Amino acid sequence: MAGNKADVLMMEQLAPIAIEGIGKAFTLHKLWEAPDRERLIGELSPRLRAIAAGGPFHDRVDAALMARLPKLEMISSFGVGYDHVDAKWAGEHGIVVTNTPDVLNEEVADTALGLLLCTVRELPQAERYLRAGQWVNGEYRLTASLRGRRAGIVGLGRIGKGIARRLEAFGLPVAYHGRNPQAGVPYRYYPDLVEMARDVDVMIVMTPGGAATRHLINAKVLDALGPNGIFINVSRGTVVDQDALVAALKERKILAAGLDVYAHEPNVPAELLAMDNVVLLPHVGSGSIPTRDAMHQLVIDNLMAWAAGKPPLTPVPETPWPPRRT
Ligand code: 8YV
Repeated sequence: MAGNKADVLMMEQLAPIAIEGIGKAFTLHKLWEAPDRERLIGELSPRLRAIAAGGPFHDRVDAALMARLPKLEMISSFGVGYDHVDAKWAGEHGIVVTNTPDVLNEEVADTALGLLLCTVRELPQAERYLRAGQWVNGEYRLTASLRGRRAGIVGLGRIGKGIARRLEAFGLPVAYHGRNPQAGVPYRYYPDLVEMARDVDVMIVMTPGGAATRHLINAKVLDALGPNGIFINVSRGTVVDQDALVAALKERKILAAGLDVYAHEPNVPAELLAMDNVVLLPHVGSGSIPTRDAMHQLVIDNLMAWAAGKPPLTPVPETPWPPRRT
């Protein structure tokens, strides 16, 4: 241990701003660079109190890992989604988990609308057509339209509300599905997802990942969305039964899909890559320089608050503050 700085184990390579910021205030251990990960974890195990989690591969911080770290107090995770952390186990064992909410709301909502427009109007396909020198041979084909559509949002959280506001500005009536209706929300609530799918022709998924929402979007939901349906996912690939989605697209049971997330990132099924009725983004929802900077800064600030004995800035609901060790 260098001086009296606390150790922090970073699971995956975060941006330089986070590596530098954490490296200045703490003794930083980079798990992704360790020649022997198990050995590093074993060495740190008697004293490690904090982890910086999250990153491009969503490496899991599960019960087995946390159980090996008896002094663990704090997991500062990058990203608003924290399905890669077993937060319930952490909460039950007095470990605080923080995420990076709010600072990315507008960015992800922007991306969702961009992806929707690209998907309905085939903008990336049209651009490829131009670049391929095809325009001289004739106009790009006419496309579907956003006009006259009705939108259903699955998961009306903070980002979902930003998407809803944008859809309203585009003139689309908005409905939503979630576990519970929300007070003070002007949109129609559907307790039944299939029923909502039947009534809308744009479905946008913005609900957290994890076991509770796994394969929430299945063949039945996609069938109900119907042959004119546009499906957009900017949350987690696990929320959708990806095989059912591929089948629905292939069989034209829905019209098109715009995806930013996949079941096994960074792998995208070859079948999707070969389709002309999908727009595929490489999980860039929050991926602007200022938004990612703000998210990384929040990872640092949560660790700094913890180190100063202050309450965490953005603890997740499963881990109460002050922590309770059972
Ligand atoms: C992250 C995200 O950038 O915040 C989230 O939950 O999915 C993205 O904004 C992602 O976790 C990094 O891969």
